[in-house]
Amino acid sequence: MLEIRNIEKSYGKKKILKDISFELEKGQTLSIIGSSGSGKTTLLRCINLLEMADKGQIILNGEMLYDAGKEEEIKDSQAINIRRHFGLVFQQFNLFPQYTALENVTLASKLKGIDIKDKAVALLEQMDLGERMDYYPHQLSGGQQQRVAIARALALEPDVLCFDEPTSALDPMLTNEVLKVIQELARKKMTMIVVTHEIGFARQVSDEVIYMDDGEIVEMGTPGQVIVDPQNEKTRRFLANIVF
Ligand SMILES: Nc1ncnc2c1ncn2[C@@H]1O[C@H](COP(=O)(O)OP(=O)(O)OP(=O)(O)O)[C@@H](O)[C@H]1O
Ligand SMILES: [Mg+2]
Repeated sequence: MLEIRNIEKSYGKKKILKDISFELEKGQTLSIIGSSGSGKTTLLRCINLLEMADKGQIILNGEMLYDAGKEEEIKDSQAINIRRHFGLVFQQFNLFPQYTALENVTLASKLKGIDIKDKAVALLEQMDLGERMDYYPHQLSGGQQQRVAIARALALEPDVLCFDEPTSALDPMLTNEVLKVIQELARKKMTMIVVTHEIGFARQVSDEVIYMDDGEIVEMGTPGQVIVDPQNEKTRRFLANIVF
């Protein structure tokens, strides 16, 4: 369904992503793990076209969404359409403080001129926020805010939903409620890419795991292969330092 081919990205002289390629099947969950600075966020930003890769292609359902070197041909309006294929949930929720939970979810589609109030209500109920729809972000816990952010991303019906360390700003209790929501989405076969430091969660929820180091995919496979029985020395060293 999603094919990432030979993505490279540099900032200045520093190569941040080096020849990243992988495929993701519809309905599967891919976790990306790796130490700080290994390029996980940059990769998600390139996939979501918030950043333009220097090299490589992004293909979704057989359609070439991005082909480095030809990005001048992509007009702004097209870029917006391309981005709609992807949803992105950030570590810091990024809700609009002046809008209620419900308004935060409906806002993006309002810009498209479509009213999705009923759908937004259903999504917030699904996130167990039925009682909190009219609250403002500052009246919600971090876990609740993150679930609003997930509802907002889902409201736009992305083909692929991406998470960038969705729980690292949360304490353990709130982390669990957000992880449960992601797990439920995985069960419902939402196609997802999850950058996470929660290795135990990645092991449980993922169909595929990528271990990244210094801008490269060091190891990729099932959780059983990469997390339980890593073959590469770098992966082993990374996991040896983590309790999960
Ligand atoms: N806009 C930018 N300009 C210059 N360098 C950047 C930029 N964004 C990221 N970098 C650099 O790219 C490298 C990879 O950063 P990235 O944020 O992708 O890592 P990460 O794996 O997400 O790390 P973390 O686990 O800490 O979130 C880092 O060395 C970072 O300093
Ligand atoms: Mg990051």
